[in-house]
Amino acid sequence: MNYRHLGRTGIRVSELSFGSWVTFKNQVDVKAAVQIMAAAYDAGVNFFDNAEVYASGKSEEVMGAALKQLKWRRGSYLVTTKLFWGLHNGVNERNTLNRKRLIEGINGSLERLELDYVDVIYCHRSDKTTPIEETVWAMHNIIEWGKAMYWGTSEWSAAEIVQAIEIAERHHLHKPVVEQPEYNLFERKRFSGEYVRFYKDYGYGSTIWSPLASGLLTGKYNKGIPKNSRGALKGYEWLHDSLTDKEKLAKVMALGKIAEELDCTTAQLALAWCLKNENVSTVITGATSVKQLQENMKAAEVAPKITLDVMEKIDQAFGVVKEEEED
Ligand SMILES: NC(=O)c1ccc[n+]([C@@H]2O[C@H](COP(=O)([O-])OP(=O)(O)OC[C@H]3O[C@@H](n4cnc5c(N)ncnc54)[C@H](OP(=O)(O)O)[C@@H]3O)[C@@H](O)[C@H]2O)c1
Repeated sequence: MNYRHLGRTGIRVSELSFGSWVTFKNQVDVKAAVQIMAAAYDAGVNFFDNAEVYASGKSEEVMGAALKQLKWRRGSYLVTTKLFWGLHNGVNERNTLNRKRLIEGINGSLERLELDYVDVIYCHRSDKTTPIEETVWAMHNIIEWGKAMYWGTSEWSAAEIVQAIEIAERHHLHKPVVEQPEYNLFERKRFSGEYVRFYKDYGYGSTIWSPLASGLLTGKYNKGIPKNSRGALKGYEWLHDSLTDKEKLAKVMALGKIAEELDCTTAQLALAWCLKNENVSTVITGATSVKQLQENMKAAEVAPKITLDVMEKIDQAFGVVKEEEED
């Protein structure tokens, strides 16, 4: 496993990491979580991502119970969680980054994770109604109180992040250090556009999500939605359009052919493609089994095989040249 600095922080994260969205509680119980997390840790993963809203808090409970059984030294791994959507419908408890909610939120997450602190606490989305200054102060306090080591943003605009950084600098507060954006072969515009300059200028880290576009980039949806896949889960019907999109599937099949030539799986090639971007600190993978996890961890060995020629082939398969011309 290779390790990369989380932006300009002193912390190093495994370039492939593991997150629990959709899976923990819905598809993966504590026993399976212990097995998958142990396999990840054995492969060198040191970064485990979660969020308050995943399975309405139950995902944090599953990870907390798994960590308790795994008995790893706390210094040897990082746990992250995210706040925004909330767990209750109160007027101050939904879709907000107000001070009261953030402080109550982190306390609840720590209780469910059975941890004294998380390593990164993210603002899961931006809140257009709470002043950014209020959020920055609350995150600063959470860090000062030892409940988190660092804080970050998820799917904030570059302008909002810069505003938060500048407020923190003005008041000598802890700055946000990392963004958690979506990034995969289908979803690259923001990461490779709006954010690029500012990763360089501010040294912001990035922990990217859905690197396989919810499994689409494994090729498992090429012949329809398989039983026991995310696409077949109740409550995830909103994914169907994307998972059965003929144009997207044709691109995945073309990726599969390139993968064959490189002697790797489609999933490994899609993950390795993310690793090739130097602005990525870690690729947060998801898995419902140890087998998937172990397949995905081999992506690190595939990344060096993505030469400029291979990159060009992938771009052609995904119509990137054409899109740029149209822009
Ligand atoms: N900040 C945010 O807003 C945000 C949003 C989403 C996710 N995230 C984070 O990013 C993490 C990863 O996102 P994601 O779960 O969407 O990642 P993903 O890699 O796009 O999808 C993972 C899913 O694809 C399937 N899969 C993975 N590897 C496979 C393989 N080798 N063969 C066959 N199927 C495979 C599994 O689902 P099935 O087995 O069920 O098909 C797995 O749960 C999340 O856990 C979370 O921590 C953050």
